Order: sequence, then C-alpha cells, then structure tokens
Amino acid sequence: MAQFNLPENSKVLKGKYFKDITGSINIKKINIYRWNPDQNENPKIDTFEVDLTTCGNKVLDILNKIKNEIDPSLTYRRSCAHGVCGSCAMNVDGINTLSCMKSHKEINGEINIYPLPHLKVIKDLVADLSTLYRQYESIEPWLKTKEKKNWSAEINQSKENRKKLDGLYECIMCACCSTSCPSYWWNEEKYLGPAVLLQAYRWIMDSRDEERKERLKTVADKLKLYGCHTIMNCTNSCPKGLNPAKAISSLKKMLATN
Ligand code: SF4
Ligand code: SF4
Ligand code: FES
Repeated sequence: MAQFNLPENSKVLKGKYFKDITGSINIKKINIYRWNPDQNENPKIDTFEVDLTTCGNKVLDILNKIKNEIDPSLTYRRSCAHGVCGSCAMNVDGINTLSCMKSHKEINGEINIYPLPHLKVIKDLVADLSTLYRQYESIEPWLKTKEKKNWSAEINQSKENRKKLDGLYECIMCACCSTSCPSYWWNEEKYLGPAVLLQAYRWIMDSRDEERKERLKTVADKLKLYGCHTIMNCTNSCPKGLNPAKAISSLKKMLATN
C-alpha cells in the first residue's frame, strides 16, 4: 500500500521561543520558518515576541528588528524596501507577498512567515529561484532586432504602442505569482509559469521588437504555455496588482489566431 507520510527530516518542528525583554505592552508574536543547511536538523518554527512600539509598519520592519535586536542569524532577502526589487517576496499569513509592502497592522493575532512555497529552501526565508531565472533567461528578455542597429540612438515608439506595455513592464519578477500557481508546483521544470509568461508577453507586445513570431513559437509548446488552467491564483497574489492570467490568455489567443 502506498505511504503518504512526509519523510522524517522534512517535518517542521517547534523551535525556540524568544521572549520579549523590553516589558512593552504592545507585543506581537511572530512565527518564522527556520532551516539551516549547515545543521543536520529538521526545519523549525521559531517564535519571537516583538515590541511594535519601536517598529515600522511593514512586515519587513519586523524582520529587520528581529535580525538587528534579537537573532542576527535570521536569513531573508531584501534590498530596496520600496516594492521595486522583488527580492523580499515570501509567504506572510498564507499569502505570497512582498514583506516590504505588507503592513503588519492588517494582520490580527500572531503572524506566520514562511519562504515562498513549493521551492527548495536555501536557508530560513530564502527560497531557491534558480529554475525560475533559467526559465526567464530562456525567453530572452531583451529587445531583439533583425539587423544591427545603432544602439546609441533612441528607438522611438508611438504613445499608443507604449501604452500596450502598461500592466506588463511593472513586473518586478518577485515570483509571488508563479509560486502560488498549482500548475507550476506540479510542473516547475516544464511549465514556464505566470511570471515568465507575463514577461514573454511583454516582449511580444513591444512594437520595437522584431522577433515576435519567433518568440511566440518559443512559448507555444504544450507545457510551456498550456500548463495554465486559468485557476487565477497568480493574479490574486500579485503584489503589484498585475494580471498574469490575462497575459497568458492573450498569448493563447494570439497563437490561435496567428
Ligand atoms: S491562471 Fe494559469 S498561471 Fe495563473 S495560477 Fe492559474 S494555472 Fe497558474
Ligand atoms: S506578475 Fe506580479 S507577482 Fe508575478 S512576478 Fe510580476 S510582479 Fe511578481
Ligand atoms: S525589498 Fe525590494 S521589493 Fe521588497
């Protein structure tokens, strides 16, 4: 009979409890996934009591406070702190989001923080995005022209054509959408996923690009594109308010009519 138990070493155990030492009455309990590849131990959930009186409004502020004042070994990615670089994407209270954009004031009770789901964990909240970046590279996300151009001169675009990139160019490749997509969880190696498909569509829609047909051919493969079953998790989870599901359906429509 098939066994569906998790392997022993993947079970998430209860970790350390870091009690508040400030005596503040404005305390929030933060539960954070921890795993260190250098220690031969199971992943754990550590709990931190954090004084919100001396903390900024965002979830990233809480993580910075924990790292600076309580446990310097806490590991996570962040850079811009303004929703621009995409590096602080993680799962906060069951939703993939940018921790620098997510206000902790919106969350009642304890806050649970995990790495982006269904990816290999490198350490603590840092998930392995190498497959996603390989897939991104495969769609050649740069302007392509048939003949050599004078790249020191501007390539002009009409206002109407520029407008076609709205809702696409804003994507910061944070991976919140792809890691909330069940089709991507099941076929990560073959299906490109919503983030990369939105990017592919962005270059296909760029009036200055001259390899539209070749680009369409690249994403036309059954699993690369048709892994999408229009479940819409991707659009619901995009912290920039973009609509990757719509971009995918536009790609499908283009292929059907080209
Ligand atoms: S709409 Fe497509 S890409 Fe978006 S979550 Fe659903 S299956 Fe994934
Ligand atoms: S579409 Fe949204 S969620 Fe997906 S990678 Fe781009 S910004 Fe992130
Ligand atoms: S730190 Fe750059 S998007 Fe959050």
